[in-house]
Amino acid sequence: MSDGSIGEAAALLADARRVVVFTGSGVSAESGVPTFRDAMTGLWEKYEPQALATPQAFDADPELVSRWYDERRCAAMVCEPNDAHVAITELQRTIEERAGRCTLVTQNVDGLHERAGASGVIELHGSLFRWRGRRSGRVLEPDEIPMPFESYPPRDESGDLLRPGVVWFGESLPREAFEAADEASSSCDVFLSIGTSAVVYPAAGLIELASSCGASVIEVNPNETPATPLARVSLRGRAGAVVPEIVRLAFASGD
Ligand code: OAD
Repeated sequence: MSDGSIGEAAALLADARRVVVFTGSGVSAESGVPTFRDAMTGLWEKYEPQALATPQAFDADPELVSRWYDERRCAAMVCEPNDAHVAITELQRTIEERAGRCTLVTQNVDGLHERAGASGVIELHGSLFRWRGRRSGRVLEPDEIPMPFESYPPRDESGDLLRPGVVWFGESLPREAFEAADEASSSCDVFLSIGTSAVVYPAAGLIELASSCGASVIEVNPNETPATPLARVSLRGRAGAVVPEIVRLAFASGD
């Protein structure tokens, strides 16, 4: 591991044909979206996120869990993509223009990568902007956000409770999304991990998978994480400052 050469990270990206960008809530922190573990403020101070983000919590108190997700959805809606989201989109476009492949895998549920124009985003933990029937599993992606519910907590026309379309603790990741992330991670040259504490599995295991398959791991995070020892380049800093700089240096000459 080298401690922080942006130039080395840029050189790795400039040479890469296949890149995976893997993001966590730190990438949205500068947009004002609280990170998962920092979100429990105000009314929610007395709760643990791990205690609300479970099917058991929803079944016990669907109104409480729905309100927590409403608050998170509203917080995400008023935020804008930041310089890191924009730079990641630019990285993706540039690599694809060079006939390479850049797969964006996110643990975030805030939709900010899509709003920054990224394509084919793999949402490992779902989205705040979808709902699923608790019994039926049927996915609902309404045009209108917030949805005009007639009752609360929301139900579909058959009376089935609508749960947030996110992955909760104890649930499996969406199979197709995970398989695509797994395939991309096991066959990339560079795996760029940005703003994740790398503690929640199986998502965090993608970093180990990429490293064991020979990819150069680049980490961007103000703090060390359990993935830091796997990183060939570990950049201590904010995503909004570091990621645009890596992308600028990687493709500065325009070739
Ligand atoms: P965490 O809240 O666990 O970690 C956020 C990470 O972002 C930390 O390592 C911070 O050091 C880092 N960070 C903070 N500000 C940053 C900045 N400006 N630039 C770069 N990094 C910054 O969030 P995640 O790793 O995303 O899953 O959490 C992973 C999953 O844990 C979430 O998707 C959620 C939770 O359980 C589910 O809900 C299933």
